[in-house]
Amino acid sequence: MYCIKANSLHKSYGSLIAVNGIDLSVKYGEVFGFLGPNGAGKSTTIKLLTTLIPPTSGSINVLGIDAIANPLETRKKIGVVFQQPSYEPTLTVEKALEKYGMMWDVDHKTRKDRVEELLSSFNLEEIRKIKNEDLSIGQRRRVQVAREFMHDMKLLFLDEPTAGLDPKARRSLLDFLKNRVKVGLTIFFTTHVLSEAEYLCDEIAIINKGKILAVDSPEELKNRFGREKTIKIRIQEPKPELLKLLENIQDCHIDFNSGTNITIRSGNSETILLQILQILNENNVVIEELSTNPTNLEEIFLSMVNESDASNS
Ligand SMILES: Nc1ncnc2c1ncn2[C@@H]1O[C@H](COP(=O)(O)OP(=O)(O)OP(=O)(O)O)[C@@H](O)[C@H]1O
Ligand SMILES: [Mg+2]
Repeated sequence: MYCIKANSLHKSYGSLIAVNGIDLSVKYGEVFGFLGPNGAGKSTTIKLLTTLIPPTSGSINVLGIDAIANPLETRKKIGVVFQQPSYEPTLTVEKALEKYGMMWDVDHKTRKDRVEELLSSFNLEEIRKIKNEDLSIGQRRRVQVAREFMHDMKLLFLDEPTAGLDPKARRSLLDFLKNRVKVGLTIFFTTHVLSEAEYLCDEIAIINKGKILAVDSPEELKNRFGREKTIKIRIQEPKPELLKLLENIQDCHIDFNSGTNITIRSGNSETILLQILQILNENNVVIEELSTNPTNLEEIFLSMVNESDASNS
């Protein structure tokens, strides 16, 4: 049984296809990360899954409920923090939490306890008496995320919850979420920041232009793509004729603008490095600096998105 199961989801706005045939299977108790560039369709997918907007076609099952046929029943069981800021300007931080609890019919005692707990967990105690309109952007975002935990839920959608948060607040939110997952919460989470997805998620889907390019655990994504290494070489003097020679090397991706920096990415970096060193040696090129590092997931993500852009255009 899946916590979220969506099949062949489409959403068009006129001639623009924001979501183009997405299938999703999210298991209970996992954190599912949705990663993609601006305009990829992340927020649209969240709006579809949380019944804020209806799909053009496709099916959505959330917590065993047909979400398209039963939007209200679905919404009662889930939590959502949308990407757009949402706050009550004139309410203080503590009153805003309190009011959110009232909206969800949380009883008085539980409400009081939760307000205190969340003020502490989200490091809001010092600003508890400050009105939302007077908060900084990051503080306001923290209140927006915190208030969602005033009510009980089995499934939580978070659309870029860490946007605008400083590194400390970011890490503390991720750790808070991790603890909630340990006690049974399922999370659907979007971000641009791959390291964040890696830290928190059991599965990561990479989306671009309304389509999912890959879904896997962070480890598997690394296994699949992570054998790749990046070799960086800085040569003493520009040597444009090297370009032709380097182009002959197979099984790698070379970035060389005829200047002094050569960047090579390959899953077969040892062999490639030998070939390059040989060419440089034969041409009496002096190397000033050389490094070999694992290609990080961020670069893998970018190149996957770039390749899909290239094949679509
Ligand atoms: N109501 C709307 N009317 C017309 N186009 C829309 C509407 N909502 C979204 N779009 C378009 O759909 C595409 C996907 O938008 P979406 O907000 O889902 O992207 P995103 O992945 O969340 O991006 P970001 O990282 O910037 O938040 C974009 O091209 C956007 O302009
Ligand atoms: Mg978005």
